[in-house]
Amino acid sequence: METFDTTLTNATHPINQNAASYFMNTTSPRIVPDTMAGHATAAAILRSGGLVAFPTETVYGLGADACDDRAVARIYEAKGRPSFNPLIVHFADLDTLKQHVVWTEEAEMLASAYWPGPLTLVLRKQPHSPISALVSAGLESIAVRLPAHDTARAILREFGGGVAAPSANRSGQISPTQAQHVADSLGARVDAILDGGPCKVGVESTIVGLLDKPLLLRPGGITEEDLARTLGHPLTVRHKAEAISAPGQLMSHYAPVARVRLNATDWEPGELRLGFGDVDCDLNLSASEDLVEAAAHLFDHLHRLDAQGGSVIAVSPIPHEGLGIAINDRLSRAAAPREG
Ligand code: TXA
Ligand code: MG
Repeated sequence: METFDTTLTNATHPINQNAASYFMNTTSPRIVPDTMAGHATAAAILRSGGLVAFPTETVYGLGADACDDRAVARIYEAKGRPSFNPLIVHFADLDTLKQHVVWTEEAEMLASAYWPGPLTLVLRKQPHSPISALVSAGLESIAVRLPAHDTARAILREFGGGVAAPSANRSGQISPTQAQHVADSLGARVDAILDGGPCKVGVESTIVGLLDKPLLLRPGGITEEDLARTLGHPLTVRHKAEAISAPGQLMSHYAPVARVRLNATDWEPGELRLGFGDVDCDLNLSASEDLVEAAAHLFDHLHRLDAQGGSVIAVSPIPHEGLGIAINDRLSRAAAPREG
């Protein structure tokens, strides 16, 4: 592994004007030191649409600009996830975070008790928030957190906006608590790793859903008892079995109102046409058959076609490889028959 050029500190630096081609050609992850120059470098890579792994108090996160569809698609590609799990968006300060969510009284109670810290809140997304639809996998909610780790905060402050970051490991592997774990798991799939030493908490953040009454979605760094004390009443705990029997709650998948017809090789009259490749259609996921671009467009295009009020959205076949597996997974969920 090589050390990243820490002279790369702002968007006007000559190297950074070419940052996309510069960092995408690397063959091994660059280790960036935990210095002011290193934080600036990390922020510059994020601004250029790159992926940066950085330490938080819980585990290392694999970060991308949450407002950049393609950068977010690259997170899923790097992790090799077979589906689009929604991601947590990290912020440096509460004022910026609040611009993207519908803030509630319970959010205020939990935030003042535990932020910055290992707690994630799922809130309703502001309709006009520029955060990529892919971040929340098309849902109208968004998971947000203010991490406590000084290095994470420094990068986030320098970057200025929200950073989407799942744990920085390949899908199915354990969460990384050291820079070397990230390098071993993701290799050159990540553009840079900010080495801030080992993480203190070592387990992921606690996730509380606040769309309805408070719901503990994932146990973690902050305990259920602590949360109940802060709120003044016990929380509902989502058990895995319940999640299956009550899919309407928080982990429901985005589904358009229109029926979805998959693997459409021709169009029927009146259908809304979602293409892939060189086809005549209403919206194209990627005319050049680029799966990263297709993933970046997926939820946004579905929302836009659905908003036209037609009864059927027909979708071109998508190859079952790489990110195409996650795209097909979500499309087949969107196409599945629904209750009610
Ligand atoms: O400690 C952590 O939370 C670490 C560090 C990097 O911040 N991140 C992390 O991310 O564990 P990840 O992607 O491994 O887990 C995110 C969890 C997933 O289980 C996902 O389903 C849930 O958050 N989630 C995200 N957005 C959601 C939403 N809108 N509704 C319900 N659950 C959501
Ligand atoms: Mg994870």
